[in-house]
Formats: sequence, structure tokens, C-alpha cells
Amino acid sequence: MVLRANPGGQISPDEVIGRDQQIRRLWEILERQSLVLSAERRMGKTCIVKKMIAEAPVGMLLIYHDLEGLRSPLEFVETVFQDVERYLSSLQRTAYRTRQFLEQFGGVKVSGFELPKLAASHWKLVLTKTVEDLVEHQERSLIFFWDEMPMMLQNIKQENGEKVAMEVLDTLRSLRQMHPQLHMVFTGSIGLHHVISVLKQAGYANAPINDMYIEDVPPLSPTDAQELALQLLVGEKIPTEDIQATAEALTKAVDCIPYYIHHVVDQMKWSYSKVNAAIVTDVVDTCLTDPLNRWDMRHYRERIDGYYEGDKRAYALSILDILAVTNQPLRFDELFNRLKTFLVTENSEMVRDVLTLLQRDHYVIQERDGAYHFRFPLIQRYWQLHRGLTE
Ligand SMILES: Nc1ncnc2c1ncn2[C@@H]1O[C@H](COP(=O)(O)OP(=O)(O)O)[C@@H](O)[C@H]1O
Ligand SMILES: [Mg+2]
Repeated sequence: MVLRANPGGQISPDEVIGRDQQIRRLWEILERQSLVLSAERRMGKTCIVKKMIAEAPVGMLLIYHDLEGLRSPLEFVETVFQDVERYLSSLQRTAYRTRQFLEQFGGVKVSGFELPKLAASHWKLVLTKTVEDLVEHQERSLIFFWDEMPMMLQNIKQENGEKVAMEVLDTLRSLRQMHPQLHMVFTGSIGLHHVISVLKQAGYANAPINDMYIEDVPPLSPTDAQELALQLLVGEKIPTEDIQATAEALTKAVDCIPYYIHHVVDQMKWSYSKVNAAIVTDVVDTCLTDPLNRWDMRHYRERIDGYYEGDKRAYALSILDILAVTNQPLRFDELFNRLKTFLVTENSEMVRDVLTLLQRDHYVIQERDGAYHFRFPLIQRYWQLHRGLTE
């Protein structure tokens, strides 16, 4: 198969390189419980899920849906209902109970699957019945793969308030408890912890995903990243001085993140001379400083404003500024001391809280000896360039 550069586009499961070991692990987890799959955007979550579905073990029913555009519980329930009816109709069945329940609101448009708006306030019941209709016809394990779940919750929170967003999570949790053969996979980039912590601040003490296993999606392994780079360089017929060395330089420069590998190869198509390791570095730096923001790196800066409230914002920015220019991991005391040259503070608890958030948001990682540093050199490099910092 010839692999072509397709950064951010839909790629077919057989174009998804590597991830096999992680996928095996995910299936093992899914045999016993539900899963939250989180990572930075473009790390390859959706690719993993699509590959999982394409290679699913027999005896499982999988239903995938991208929830990004949904903005209310009714839209969500409608989506689930449509997916379930589509599946049941392949068995010459319908979601009988749900349809019967909906009769009282004027029924369901059979072709368009539209739920009556009157049912809006009963969305929990509609969801519960829909899942019952599905489970009734199923002895197999059932898995809903819901991509961009945090994005939908965020939308619901904005349009319908925090309470409703929390009710969605609570209802899903109780469905998982009611039907042990039913598992769910939530994927998304926002980080459910941001959505849930805002909800907690608003007074909800529940732990609506504490029965789910949280798994991080790392970049590709170096071997798989190089395989991807090689296949793309060949597929795009890019002339190189030394293809192996170019592929190695490329994967190193982008921390083995597959999206950027696609993107850099795509950029190199327009290079006039033979490509070598030095040109790779040039292309990467150009992309990091691209005024058109095609790599969307500004997201790493803007997220701090969006999700770090009050004083946390200034702490987060200063901590990242400090870590961006150290080539050694910093221990807490050292970091705190340096921070005091940026901010007037004795608030070490705040620093700890912010460091925890920065770790959850994949900016920072802690070594076993406790010292902190940027998780991805690529993002560190962006931070240096964007903030005008030098070592
Ligand atoms: N394993 C992989 N093999 C090849 N390309 C990949 C792989 N994972 C991700 N990509 C590339 O990165 C892009 C973004 O991946 P995607 O799965 O959509 O990320 P996410 O869902 O985490 O935001 C894809 O369009 C594809 O170009
Ligand atoms: Mg995705």
C-alpha cells in the first residue's frame, strides 16, 4: 500500500501505523470496564478507535459516534436512538419500548428519526429505554465509542447549564451499572477533568466517571514513527540524501507525534532540493512560528486562559516559562525558588495544584525522582519561540 501525506484528514484503518500493542491492552481493559481515552488533540485517538473497530474481536457489538457538534441532551439521545435503531433495523427489529414511550409525545418520524421536541424534558427516560431496547436483543458485549464526549459536555454546559451536563454523566454512569455487559469509551482532547472540575465547583460532588479506566494515548513508538515517516517519504516520492537519516531526524523533531509527521512530509513536497536532516529542522521551526497557525500550537497558550482560573493563570504561565528554558528537570524547591523571581508568592499549595493541572494537560511530566520538565520537547520549543525566551 502507498501511504500519502494526509495531515488531519480521514485515514482508513489500514493506514493507521502501529498502535497494535496499545490496542491489545485497550481490549483487555474493555473486557472488564469502561474507558476514558485522553490525549492532546492530534495524538491519534480517533485513529486508534477506528482501528480498534476495524479489527474488533468477534462477539462484540460496537457503536461509534463523534459527538463534537452536539449541544443538548436531546440531541445526544436522538443520536444514540438513531444509532440503536439503525442497528436493530439490520435485525429487522425496532426500538420498541422507546417508540411506545414516544407515542405519547406524537411519535417518532420514522424516516428522519427525529424525536418530538416535547420529549426533551424526558431525555433520561428516552435514553434509558433506548439502551434497554438494545440490550434486550443482545447477548454480546456492547460498546459505545463516543468520540469528543468532553466537547459535547462543554457545549451542553454552555447552553443548558452545569446541572444538565452533570446529569448526562450521571445517567450514563447509572446505565453502566444497570447493564454490566454495556461498556463505554469516551475519547476527547479537552480533558474531562476540566469539565468535571467546573461542575464540582458548581456544587456537584458526584464522581461520575470513577468506574471508568483512564488511559493516556502517547505518541507513536520510535520504531512505528519511523516506519510512518519512511512510508510517507516513499509514498510522496520525496528525494532524500539519506532516507533513513531523514526519517530519524523527522520523528525526533516532532516527538513521534503522527499528525506532525504527516504534516512535515506534506511540506517537504514543495522543497526544491533533496531533503536532509537540516531541512527537517527548518521546516519544523517554520511550522512552529507559522503566523497562520496551521499546527494550531497557539492552542497550548490559549488553553491556559480558557481553563486556568484566577491566579492559576499567572502561575501556570510562569512555571512554563521557567521550565521552557531549563535543560535539566527541576525539583519542586528549585522551581518554587525560581518562581519567586517572577511572582510574589509563598503559596506552595497553589504551585502544587497548578503543576498537577499542567501534568494532566500534558505540558509537564514528573520524573521518578520528583523533578519536573516539559513532556514534549516540541511543545517546549514552541513555548520558547512563542514567548521569546532564550536559555
Ligand atoms: N497511527 C497513525 N498512523 C498514521 N497516521 C496517524 C496515526 N495517528 C494519527 N495519524 C495522523 O494524525 C492525524 C490526527 O489523528 P487523530 O486520530 O484524528 O487525532 P485525535 O483524534 O487524537 O485528535 C490523522 O489525520 C493522521 O494524519
Ligand atoms: Mg479525534
